Amino acid sequence: MRRSAAACAAALAGALALAGCGSGDSAAELSVSAAYMPQPVSDSMAAGFLTITNKGGTKDALTSVTSDVAGSVTVHETVGGAMREVDSLEVPAGGRLQLASGGSHLMFEKLKRKPRQGEKVTLELHFADSGTVEVEMPVESATYTPNTGS
Ligand code: CU
Repeated sequence: MRRSAAACAAALAGALALAGCGSGDSAAELSVSAAYMPQPVSDSMAAGFLTITNKGGTKDALTSVTSDVAGSVTVHETVGGAMREVDSLEVPAGGRLQLASGGSHLMFEKLKRKPRQGEKVTLELHFADSGTVEVEMPVESATYTPNTGS
């Protein structure tokens, strides 16, 4: 994915907008579901999970995340059991980006308060093309696992 995006950008070499590069003819159409935060055990850090579905014909990318409960929110992916911060995650055209336990996730750092089960945390997802999407993320028990049915 990363390679094809780079090749795509190189092919366009400044002349055309990157948004015009893609097989689909409709813009990205994003919706967010299955958002939750396991109640953190740490006073300073928490993880967050959600699914972003793209019904449009153009891919998009999650480029940053902000929240009023955290000094910073970073996007992590898990590779070979180790997590690392990434600049962005792709939301494929007609597909979905799933942030799930054991895989990619959001990391809330420098918590301003400790979220508790039953509360909701507000966050903003910032996308390369679709702008900002606000999400209300419920805080679940520390051991909560979603029934995704997939
Ligand atoms: Cu992480």
